[in-house]
Order: sequence, then structure tokens, then C-alpha cells
Amino acid sequence: MADTLTITDNRTGRTYEVPIDDGAVRAMEFRQIKVSDDDFGLMVYDPAFMNTASCKSRITYIDGDKGILRYRGYPIEQLAEQSNYLEVAYLIVNGELPTREQYDRWVHDITYRTLIHENIKKFVDGFHHDAHPMGMLVSTVAALSTFYPESKHIFDEETRRLQIIRLIAKMPTLAAFAYRHSLGQPYVYPDNDLSFTGNLLNMLYKMSEAKYQPHPVLERALDVLFILHADHEQNCSANAMRAVGSSHPDPFSAIAAACAALYGPLHCGANEEVLRMLTQIGSLDRIPAFIERVKGGEGLLMGFGHRIYKNYDPRASIIKEMAHQVFEVTGRNPLLDIALELERIALEDEYFIKRKLYPNVDFYSGIIYQSMGFPVEMFPVLFAIPRTAGWVAQWQEMLLDSEQKIARPRQLYLGYDQRDYLPTGQREKQSAVA
Ligand code: SDX
Repeated sequence: MADTLTITDNRTGRTYEVPIDDGAVRAMEFRQIKVSDDDFGLMVYDPAFMNTASCKSRITYIDGDKGILRYRGYPIEQLAEQSNYLEVAYLIVNGELPTREQYDRWVHDITYRTLIHENIKKFVDGFHHDAHPMGMLVSTVAALSTFYPESKHIFDEETRRLQIIRLIAKMPTLAAFAYRHSLGQPYVYPDNDLSFTGNLLNMLYKMSEAKYQPHPVLERALDVLFILHADHEQNCSANAMRAVGSSHPDPFSAIAAACAALYGPLHCGANEEVLRMLTQIGSLDRIPAFIERVKGGEGLLMGFGHRIYKNYDPRASIIKEMAHQVFEVTGRNPLLDIALELERIALEDEYFIKRKLYPNVDFYSGIIYQSMGFPVEMFPVLFAIPRTAGWVAQWQEMLLDSEQKIARPRQLYLGYDQRDYLPTGQREKQSAVA
């Protein structure tokens, strides 16, 4: 049997042979299917890209039915247990685990690029004290593009590598400055003696002590959380990174678009909404009524469901296990009991079973972040920091893919046919149209 599709157009009786490659057919093959010579040809219609591959990628593999997640072929469980975030970032961006020499240079280059231009503080100072840190992050990372005009030279390999290093290195500093501004506290500068996550904790929490000492359990827990959040193939924000990047702006501007996509409550803004949901439920006895409201269409069970995972999100399993280690240091977060009971009830309920709704990465992460002292508004920011490695890897892969060009989808036009302009006096009041 050949790897082809035979299509019969019943409007004309003609048949077409379409090749099947890598489990897909090219949408452009459908343009040959016409009813007349001046026919544009068939398009494929796929709102929200439910069944459309926008690219070929070798970065992250997900099997949603089996709950599998691998970065460059390595299982997330092994990376979470044996690696660290900067090593995983190197793997995701460069395609292979680094040698000791490559790792040391990567860590050095990132460590010594964590400072941001002093003028950025003026942007941060300009926000209200209660400005959402994701709004500040979207703005300040975009502003970085004006400090590095050479970053527009995206096809110069060395320049591109430097901007990738800058983005991974500076996102924590931008995030920490936003957090400190919201508290009215002085900005804390990077401490190059500390690890990637140790330095983030330093910039967030250092007060008057001479040198901040991160708690090793919390430092490691944050590093594992960052590994789990590093990439996730063609999610909404990676798609934004690729789509905006396809018109060839600098990577800082493209990352601002990815951050904006990530901010939405249906994407990683969910981790913030999960905490609000658990707090609103408040006690175990109120869970059944909440579940019934969700089943009645009154809102979503935030942190549940996934476009790809129709099984348990492997990241949620690891985070759930890790919570216990963090709580040994911070004390048990009572919201965990509500989350565990909510999960137990939901996984036994036909509404969720039928729709294959399981906890996703956002369901438990917020409980840990809250126990570590982060305000809910910082949760999406703690997602954006590690996902920067994934975004720049997806962006770079798109740039180097000879099949890619500026992203410009088609549409099915269902609006008015041509009609003539009407002077004001001749117009009848029209009902608003979509
Ligand atoms: C992330 O894509 C990624 O990889 C994202 C991410 C990453 O690492 O980048 O994994 C990170 O964004 C995780 C997802 C975080 N978002 C949430 O937890 C918000 C709540 N979840 C839903 O909004 C939803 O599940 C999505 C957005 C995650 C997925 O939506 P889909 O694939 O478009 O599914 P759908 O909305 O079509 O839902 C199918 C059915 C619907 O019911 P019916 O119309 O068939 O009756 O399931 C229902 C939905 O109403 N449903 C839910 C639900 N999620 C889906 N019902 C209640 N609670 C939910 N959470």
C-alpha cells in the first residue's frame, strides 16, 4: 500500500493522489482540487489549529494519550530528577546535552548577562504600585529591544546566540524588579555567586542582609519547576513567538508577544486562577457544589484539561510529588487538601472523564509558589521565566527552517458581496453584525 491519499471530488468525479509524509498531507495539495479553471481551489478550515501542524520540529515531543513529554528525546521525569534548568535550557536551544566545557561557558555567559540597563528601572518605576507583573514584564522585555539594536541581525549566528543568552539571563531580573516595585522595595542586583534560581530568589527576597542565602530545598524545587516549564511544543505562546518571529523582528519584540499570549487565563494565567479558585472554594465541604456549578457551565475547573494531554499531564504528577518536599520547609499549604479532594472527585465524575479532563501543569504549581511566598500575580511570571528557553528555541528553529516564511493564514470570507456606498440620509438603522 502506498503512502498516499486518493481523493475523489464528487462535484467533478475527478480523483487526486496526495502523498502522506510524516503522518500528514500538505494543505497546499488541496488547491489543485477545482471545479473550473478559474476556481481558487480547496482550502482546509481549522479554527484554533485543532488538527493543523504549522511546522516541523525536533524540540519537544508530547504523547497526550500516554502522558509522555520529552525534550530532545529525553523524558521529562529523568531531566527533572537528574538535570538542572540551565542544562535543560542548553539542551532545548542547542539540541544536545552540553559537555562540561559547553555547560560551564553557557552558565558563565548567562550569569554575567543578568544585569539590565539602568534606564529600565525608569520604566518599572513608571508603573502603578499595583500594576500586574506580567504587564510589566511584557513591556520591559519589549523595551530591551531598544537597548540592543544589533539584535535585529537575527541571521547572524553569533548575534543571535548573544540575544538568546541575554533573554534567558535577563528575564529573571526584569521579573524581580517588577516584584520589588510592587512592594515598594529597593531593587536587588544579581549575585553572580548564586545559581540561576538562587539568584532569582536573591533578587526577589534579599533585604538588609549582607549576602542572601537561598534555602537549598526551595532553590532546587524552583529549578525543577523551571525544568518542567521550559518548553511544550506548539502551545499558544510558542505559536505567537513563531508567528511574530516570522516577520523577522528582533527576538525581544517576539518574546513580548509570547509573554502576552502566555498571560491569558486559558494559558498559563491559569496557575493564578487555580489559586483564586481553591481559595474561593475554601473548604472540602464546598467542593461538590463547586463541581456541580462547573458541570452546569458556570465557569471552568481551572488547572484541568489540555488540548494535547487526554491523560494526566506528567508535569502535574512531578509537581504534586514535589509539594511535599517544599512543605517540609514552608509548612503545609491547606489549599493542597482542597486541590487533592477536587482532583479525586473530578477524576471519578463522568463529566470530566468523558471529556478526558485531568490536572495540567497549572493545577498544583500555584500551591507551591504560594507556599514559597510568591503572590498569585507572580505565578504567570514564574512560568514565563523558564519558558523563555522554549520560546527562543522554537523561534530559532523557525528561522532556520527553509520551508518557513512569514505566517499569513487564509480565511473563509462569508461577508457581504460588493455593495454600493449609501449617503447618510439613505441608510436604515442596521443591526450590528459580527
Ligand atoms: C497551559 O498548550 C499547552 O501546551 C499549554 C501548556 C504549556 O505548557 O504551554 O500546557 C500550559 O496553558 C495549560 C492549560 C492551562 N489552562 C487551564 O487550566 C484553563 C482551564 N482549561 C481549559 O480552558 C481547557 O481545558 C484548555 C484551554 C486548556 C484546553 O481547551 P481545548 O482543548 O480547546 O478544549 P475545549 O475548551 O474544547 O474543551 C473540551 C470540552 C468542553 O466541553 P463541551 O463543550 O464539549 O461540553 O471540555 C470542557 C469544555 O467546556 N472543558 C472544561 C475544562 N476544560 C475543557 N470544563 C471544565 N473545566 C475545564 N477546565
